[in-house]
Amino acid sequence: MISKNTIDKVYESARLEEVIGDFVQLKKSGSNFKGLSPFSDERSPSFMVSPVKQIWKDFSSGKGGNVVAFLMEHEHFTYPEAIKYLAKKYNVEIEETERTDEQKQEANERESMYLVSEFAQKHFAHMLWDTELGKAIGLSYFKERGFTEETIKKFNLGYCLDQWDGFTKAAFDKGYKLKYLEQTGLTIVKEDTQNPNNPRTFDRFKGRVMFPIHSMSGRVLGFGGRILGNDKKAAKYLNSPESDIYHKSKVLYGIYHAKQSIAKEDNCYLVEGYTDVIQFYQRGIHNVVSSSGTALTPEQIRLINRLTKNITVLFDGDAAGLRASLRGIDLILEQGMNVKVCTFPEGEDPDSFSKNNALEDVQHYLEEKSQDFIQFKAGLLAQEAANDPIKRADTVRDIIQSISKIPDAIKREIYIQECANIMKVSEGVLFTTLAQMGKKGASDMTKTQKPDQRAFDVVKNEAPQQKVDVQYLLERKIIELLLLYGNEKEEFEDLVLKESESGDLVLEPESIEAKVYEKIYLDLQDDEIELANEQFRQIYSKLIEALNQNTDFSISTFLSGLDQQLVSEISSILMEEEKYALHSWERKDIYPKEKKVGVAQLVSETILTLRCFLIKKRMTALQDNTKESQEDHRETLEEIMNYLQLNKLLNKKLNRVFS
Ligand code: CTP
Ligand code: MN
Repeated sequence: MISKNTIDKVYESARLEEVIGDFVQLKKSGSNFKGLSPFSDERSPSFMVSPVKQIWKDFSSGKGGNVVAFLMEHEHFTYPEAIKYLAKKYNVEIEETERTDEQKQEANERESMYLVSEFAQKHFAHMLWDTELGKAIGLSYFKERGFTEETIKKFNLGYCLDQWDGFTKAAFDKGYKLKYLEQTGLTIVKEDTQNPNNPRTFDRFKGRVMFPIHSMSGRVLGFGGRILGNDKKAAKYLNSPESDIYHKSKVLYGIYHAKQSIAKEDNCYLVEGYTDVIQFYQRGIHNVVSSSGTALTPEQIRLINRLTKNITVLFDGDAAGLRASLRGIDLILEQGMNVKVCTFPEGEDPDSFSKNNALEDVQHYLEEKSQDFIQFKAGLLAQEAANDPIKRADTVRDIIQSISKIPDAIKREIYIQECANIMKVSEGVLFTTLAQMGKKGASDMTKTQKPDQRAFDVVKNEAPQQKVDVQYLLERKIIELLLLYGNEKEEFEDLVLKESESGDLVLEPESIEAKVYEKIYLDLQDDEIELANEQFRQIYSKLIEALNQNTDFSISTFLSGLDQQLVSEISSILMEEEKYALHSWERKDIYPKEKKVGVAQLVSETILTLRCFLIKKRMTALQDNTKESQEDHRETLEEIMNYLQLNKLLNKKLNRVFS
């Protein structure tokens, strides 16, 4: 277990905007930062980060929370993983409280898989650098490929000795369990019928040079292993199988090393494989990733989309396979990204080309030869179909198919005009084809445009004709007041019963100084009010306790002790105001500026309104009761009378607050 002390230190040093900034491009917006939601496809930013409150809120998915919640959502970390990640980033030393064997066993399964993968990566690097065979075979192979020692270290490349179970044995020696070695695919287990209790184990990557695959945050998820000899029967590359930590369709090779540069250059190069990424990086072009042998998936595109809108797909010199790859690019267009393509000279791939040319020449080539995807495709198809009228018709449909995926109508129109030129077809024909396709595509289009519309929904939901849950809103307001002003001393105006000179009981105004949380707590206590909403009730009791204990109450310390669900709820409450900042132009004409009121007034008003509301609710319930039952109502009626009395008093107080 990580010690409480470490956790506190981590929370103290972590800066939310920096942590999120590693994954999402953030722009300053007033006192906040905003960016595109990393949890959905969207074109207008609805993701907010408050550096002051140290919380974030994603208005498109509804998610929100503190720094740990972000890492848990985004990187799918467990709580301890998130703390460890932050500790590493901020150089906080991790103190572990002693674990019992039992606790060790209970430690999260995924964490165990991560740990065994990290061990494997270190082991393979150790074999590469520190063993005779590793140096002679693995290291010299990488050097022959032109990788420098610095590069080999940067990408944590390694070597798995050509032994049946050298790695597996080493892992056992360190106490790693077969279960996790098998689940990560590092070890292959074969049942032995002679000896069922002692299955035979083999290293999956025996005799291969190793390419660790990292997550966006740098954890080892899996491996690619390249064979060294020229055994025609064995696969050249072998990859880790799908597992709980390695989802092939959701990772991009190189993203960890490339992410900063992708955001900074505002462009991402997409290449075919490991060696292309590494060679490009070594040459000095760092914004490069690969989908490693598989077709690009929407999830992978989304990873890039968080960092930039621009993607350049690089193709090998050989034309074979080019046509097939083109189709995959429609997926990128669908996400509203700008796609360029660049092909290399016959017989060259990004690996060889960047190895054989100087940085300036490579950069110059990329600038010169990168072509807008639609234009490129139209040109290619026009060439292919030049003398074949039937093929031309297919070709037109093909290119319009791509254009129909582009969410932006203006862009679509411009492309149609350009393609008409390139393909020598009239614009009219192209528009008609697009319209026909549009009928099918229309539903896709509204789907991709959702985030923009949602911005309006936010405002619409607030409109008064909507039925609102008053009690919910009031309880929520109480939590907000406690969070923001709980420890502030305020002057509260109240009406108290006093004996006048003539001996009558009268209500007289009195001013009482109290802390906001005391006032709220005592007033609610008076009526024995318990918050109805389960989450609010939990937050409320924790808040009152925290405020009562420390005079230097801070929201972020408070949040660090809560479970993530409550943290998320609180973030929603605190960021409520901020969502208008995202679409301020929409709001300007719809709502008048809120009247600035004092904290004391706001507190009194909220509590009194809640009390009145609950009393009315109670009275209605009592009245309903009397209608239904035939019994003696005297007691109930008396109760109702009392409530009426109280209601009148509260209304008087409320009127005072308003006046
Ligand atoms: N690749 C793969 N699986 C294969 C073949 C290739 O994942 N069976 C990927 C690898 O990521 C590799 C990239 O495609 O880096 C380029 O393929 P290729 O040029 O065949 O691999 P190299 O290792 O460069 O082999 P060679 O030295 O023969 O060029
Ligand atoms: Mn190659």
